Formats: sequence, C-alpha cells, structure tokens
Amino acid sequence: MNERQKEILFNRSVIQKRVQELADQISGDYTDGELIIVGILKGAFIFMADLIRAISIPCSVDFVRCASYGTGSESSGKIVMTKDIETSIKGRDVLIVEDIVDTGLTLKYLVGWLKERNPHSLKVCALIDKRRKRKVSFEADYVGFTVADGFLVGYGLDFNECYRFLPEIYVIKQL
Ligand code: IMP
Ligand code: MG
Repeated sequence: MNERQKEILFNRSVIQKRVQELADQISGDYTDGELIIVGILKGAFIFMADLIRAISIPCSVDFVRCASYGTGSESSGKIVMTKDIETSIKGRDVLIVEDIVDTGLTLKYLVGWLKERNPHSLKVCALIDKRRKRKVSFEADYVGFTVADGFLVGYGLDFNECYRFLPEIYVIKQL
C-alpha cells in the first residue's frame, strides 16, 4: 500500500472528550428501559465500543453491514444490506451508530429498513457529519464532529481497508 500524506484532525483526547459528551447526552435522553444500539460495520466499530462504555444506561448491541460497492473514496450510491440485525426491535428504543454521514444515502436507507420493524423509537448517532456531498436530506440526532469535506481515516474509518487501527482521526491530504 502507498502510504498517503495525512494530517491529524482530532486527537485522542479530543475524541475521548466528545464521545463522553455524546454518551452523557444519550444517557440523559433515554431514561426508561434498555437501549438497542445498532452499529454499522465496519467503520463504526471503534466509536461504538467507546460510546457504549461511556453510556450509563443498560444497552444491548447488534450490527448491520451496508455495502455501497464503491472503492476508494467514492460511494456508488446504491446501498445493499449484506448483514441484517439479529435482534427483534419491535417496540424497542433503537440507536443507530455510524462513523460518517456523507451523501446521506446509507443512513436514509437503513432508517427506512429498520423503521419497517416498528421500533418504539429510532435515532441516529454519527461520529462525523460531512456536509458538502449530501445527496439526500438527512440529519443525525447526535453528531460528534461536523466537517465540510475531506477524506478522513483512523478510529475505525478506512481508505481501502487501511488506517482503521489508528487511534486518532486524520484527513488525507491527497487521495
Ligand atoms: P453515505 O452513504 O455517502 O453517507 O456514506 C457513508 C459511508 O461512506 C460511511 O459509512 C463510510 O463508510 C464511507 N465514508 C464516507 N466518507 C468517508 C471518509 O471520509 N472516510 C472514510 N469513510 C467514509
Ligand atoms: Mg461505513
């Protein structure tokens, strides 16, 4: 793999502080019963792991995997579910956890997909809201960081499956 030039955007302490703030907000918003947290594989796995440990209410976890069959930095725009949840969410409070909202297509599709199972509530928590390339209107209920544009890696985010393991979030300077 060619090492790409990248620069740090959010360091560990900034991420940790923001994750705790989101967790406090979420814990305060759900007061009765158990929350089902649905993570979108693979990008959300590190954020989700930190978030659930910072939340002070009981929760269970499940995962979906959505492929948009894009490579590199461009999504194809056509979303396909390649792994569904394994929990019944009917009548339950559900929080989707995602790494980045970019065009909005993935989350719009997934929210529609899960709503059909009649959860009691369905909200979205995104670590990063990347606003410039939005193709469909979509607003997450909880957002960690807002950026205009740029391709981000680290803390679960990848470029062609690289860089997920980095503890900080970087912006790639040249794709
Ligand atoms: P959307 O359907 O265009 O909103 O795409 C969201 C998905 O594209 C995210 O779940 C990411 O997997 C991927 N993605 C979008 N922007 C970035 C980025 O800057 N870094 C890494 N992955 C990204
Ligand atoms: Mg993703």
